[in-house]
Amino acid sequence: MIKYDFDGKVAVVTGAASGIGRATALAFAASGAAVVVADMNESGGEETVARARAAGGRAVFQRCDVSSPAEAEALVARAVSEYGRLDFAHNNAGINSLAADEWELPNWQRSLAVNLTGVMLCMKAEAAVMLAQGKGAIVNTASINGLVGNPSQPAYTATKHAVVGLTRHGALRWARKGVRVNCVCPGVIDTPMVEGVSARPEIRKVIENMTPLGRFGKPEEVAAGVLWLCSDASSFVTGHPLVIDGGAIAD
Ligand SMILES: NC(=O)c1ccc[n+]([C@@H]2O[C@H](COP(=O)([O-])OP(=O)(O)OC[C@H]3O[C@@H](n4cnc5c(N)ncnc54)[C@H](O)[C@@H]3O)[C@@H](O)[C@H]2O)c1
Repeated sequence: MIKYDFDGKVAVVTGAASGIGRATALAFAASGAAVVVADMNESGGEETVARARAAGGRAVFQRCDVSSPAEAEALVARAVSEYGRLDFAHNNAGINSLAADEWELPNWQRSLAVNLTGVMLCMKAEAAVMLAQGKGAIVNTASINGLVGNPSQPAYTATKHAVVGLTRHGALRWARKGVRVNCVCPGVIDTPMVEGVSARPEIRKVIENMTPLGRFGKPEEVAAGVLWLCSDASSFVTGHPLVIDGGAIAD
């Protein structure tokens, strides 16, 4: 993992109790940023904080359901009250109800509330602080299902396409005001979200064979993209959906 010099910077990461969000939070902390670890899962979030601190980093946990306007605002307020500013945000919390029928309205609505409205609410609160500072970088987690279709998950696919669109909107809206907005589009990444698939060796093998690089991605490989998109190394990049999928949608 490349270590950036993020000393004095402050990052918020949602969905940071697990998987991609935890990997990003730990990578930010290892690069010197102070991190607000946000999640509904308190024990997982505290575990991320403990790991960041054990490695010498600075981090606090904020319980947050991103679909709640008040909790999204409280999250950003915590970053400012705790560390005085907000430089980077990774809006990553998401659900993928692999086993549920997303044509059923409650499942559809929960997917939209977390995967889309949650990203919008966080972006709105984060941008208010970043615009006042005159600088900031926001990275949303979409998916390759935000760029290509998926026959089994209508809500997940629709929300992830919408996250790509919302990312492009934010990029254009704030381009002249110092705030860049990008998203990552991961392929299949080895996290608890895909446990149902990865625990079945025959299905795992099929997915690995369909992936040109021949394996699942690691959460750290997505975190690497997020940190690059937050760093000045990507200073001319905004509105970009960065595909991190082992080549899955290359053909
Ligand atoms: N794992 C993959 O293959 C994959 C592929 C493409 C995109 N993604 C996306 O990456 C993101 C992270 O997923 P992951 O694979 O790390 O899964 P994960 O299940 O390991 O982590 C998701 C985290 O989000 C949290 N969360 C869920 N709802 C929340 C809410 N309302 N408010 C706050 N936190 C909430 C969960 O508690 C959990 O800690 C998601 O947006 C997901 O759609 C994952």
